Amino acid sequence: MKKSTFIAVALMICCMAFGQNPSVTKEVLGDHNGTDVCLYTLTNKDGNVLKLTNYGARIVRIDVPDKNGIKDNVTIGSEKLESIVKGDPFGGACIGRFANRIANGKFTLDGVEYSLPINNRPNTLHGGSNGWFSKVWTSEISKSCKYPAVKFTYLSPDMEEGFPGTVKMSVTYTWNDKNEIIIDYAATTDKKTVINITNHAYFNLHGVGKGYVFDHILTLKASAYTPIHATQIPTGEIRPVKGTPFDFTVPHTIGYKIGEKYENLEFKGYDHNYVLDKNEKVNATVYDPESGRVMEVITDQPGLQFFSGNSAMWKKSVETGTKGVNPRSSFALETQHFPDSPNQTAFPTTILNPGEKFKSRTIYRFSVKKN
Ligand code: BGC
Repeated sequence: MKKSTFIAVALMICCMAFGQNPSVTKEVLGDHNGTDVCLYTLTNKDGNVLKLTNYGARIVRIDVPDKNGIKDNVTIGSEKLESIVKGDPFGGACIGRFANRIANGKFTLDGVEYSLPINNRPNTLHGGSNGWFSKVWTSEISKSCKYPAVKFTYLSPDMEEGFPGTVKMSVTYTWNDKNEIIIDYAATTDKKTVINITNHAYFNLHGVGKGYVFDHILTLKASAYTPIHATQIPTGEIRPVKGTPFDFTVPHTIGYKIGEKYENLEFKGYDHNYVLDKNEKVNATVYDPESGRVMEVITDQPGLQFFSGNSAMWKKSVETGTKGVNPRSSFALETQHFPDSPNQTAFPTTILNPGEKFKSRTIYRFSVKKN
């Protein structure tokens, strides 16, 4: 471990046009298996803050104003090494190699069957027990960007968690003056493989620890979703949402139909992949009338997992006992390819070949609506 636990490297990014001083600072929190775990604080021109760590290339804090200008943190996370490592494994992290579930931890590529760790019986979830969420990534403050930005890179060895090919992965988070978190993913492989990347941030627009998210109004520009079997693997059907409790094409609260008796919904709440409509400028919007905060999601990915933070096991997630980590007191909107795509040939392909470059962008944009 480094002698000083607090090494701040401040990069002042000149932004003469605005006369402000957006910045990125870096603090070493300690080491994990011999590698420094760092906390990055990105401050934009209005003084709004995004915090990131290289443990899982993860978002740990987002401070944005409400309709009265009062700032609060809207994502679940921790700034302490121990609770980052021992907390919810997925919260805020960059998930790979394969976000969401792969049925029975198996898939076949060019006639070869690959077996993955089963960490969500009987399936593989979010890249396996030791997926990218549990790795300490290499990180650097990006100097080429006029906004605060941090680039994380990770070299995933051949057969890591059972997946073929050495994958060179990077994710860059940019925090611009429009309160947009721009997430840029890039990956290459030296052998044919499958890849599905997401960010797994949990949000509560009241502010973390300030109650449930039932009253948040959600719009999802998705006319269809992928129904699932009991173990949460898609049946293969692409089902229109019209006339079902899954329809958020017309905005309504998360809580409005969450308790309805409908296949897949009655016990668990929302935990489903939506098939995003094409050519939408904004794919999802969440509005909290109480705080006035709005979050928009923009992505080039074909799917989005809407997870209403359902399970009780999830309660143990981060820190201790704040309301923010109770079931249904946060939600996730995970942009992605469809779950179990390697086993479902009718779904958009997740195959990455040598010589190809996987590139993808997702934006989480925060604003306020004054009613
Ligand atoms: C999945 C949930 C899972 C959660 C864990 C989500 O992406 O869809 O089923 O419990 O991740 O954080």
